[in-house]
Amino acid sequence: TVSLRAGAASVDMPQLGFGVFQVPQDETEAVVRAALEAGYRSIDTAAAYGNEEGVGRALAASGLTQQEVFLTTKLWNSDQGYDEALQAYETSVRKLGREVDLYLIHWPTPAKDRYVDSFRALLKLREDGRLRVPGVSNFTPEHLQRVNDELGEFPAINQVELHPYFQQAQLREFHRAHDIHTEAWSPLGGQGGEVLQDPVIAQIAEKVGRTPAQVVLRWHLQLGNVVIPKSATPERIAQNFDVTAFSLDDEDLAAIAGLDRGTRVGPDPDEFNG
Ligand code: A2P
Repeated sequence: TVSLRAGAASVDMPQLGFGVFQVPQDETEAVVRAALEAGYRSIDTAAAYGNEEGVGRALAASGLTQQEVFLTTKLWNSDQGYDEALQAYETSVRKLGREVDLYLIHWPTPAKDRYVDSFRALLKLREDGRLRVPGVSNFTPEHLQRVNDELGEFPAINQVELHPYFQQAQLREFHRAHDIHTEAWSPLGGQGGEVLQDPVIAQIAEKVGRTPAQVVLRWHLQLGNVVIPKSATPERIAQNFDVTAFSLDDEDLAAIAGLDRGTRVGPDPDEFNG
């Protein structure tokens, strides 16, 4: 687990969780049930994924208590603003069937005053004992700094695109300086599968007797990232959770560090206005 700042308190979050980006609503319940059975205790969804109800059904069917499963969802761009964010939170909670542990502003868009107002709403939800941790996603240092300047605290966590071809060294350094946890989306490099076919990763995988996906996830964990791999395949769901019984040595880590290309698979936060 990692320990997230939450006002005067702190909240533990599993370092390895399960993401449901692009999982269709009608498949989500089964996929999340497979993840919970494999041992995941952190689930990451978003209002924009259109599958919160499927996540809710899987959680209800699991027999696990709210305290046993760390749940993340996200505020969509069109719901930004103070009142809008409060209302969107209620809608997500209704669909999920429970309160949320971590609520992220999905993108720093459409306008900078809006994300500050949205974050103020998230702080209010925390103050009211609803939400446990307010956080953000796809924020740059400039966005994070603005939240701190206006509201007197940095978000405890920022979920961003991060994988061996896009390592975000500068952003991670900024996070470190301000006690912000780094959470990786598209941790395996996204759907194209290029990262998983990289010869350097393949070589390390062979050496440690693991799959390329396991090597990449292990790299994230050793860097200190929170990581939420997505898979719709039960065998891969289980494989991706099995990454604690081995480790990468300094040479492996250095080899992966050398793979950074600085290229995104997703949108640039400063340009995205979806
Ligand atoms: P699938 O759902 O068919 O398993 P990212 O999390 O970086 O966005 O990458 C997710 C992509 O990687 C998905 O297309 C997913 O496909 C695939 N994937 C997930 N786990 C593995 C794995 N262990 N081996 C190979 N591909 C994987």
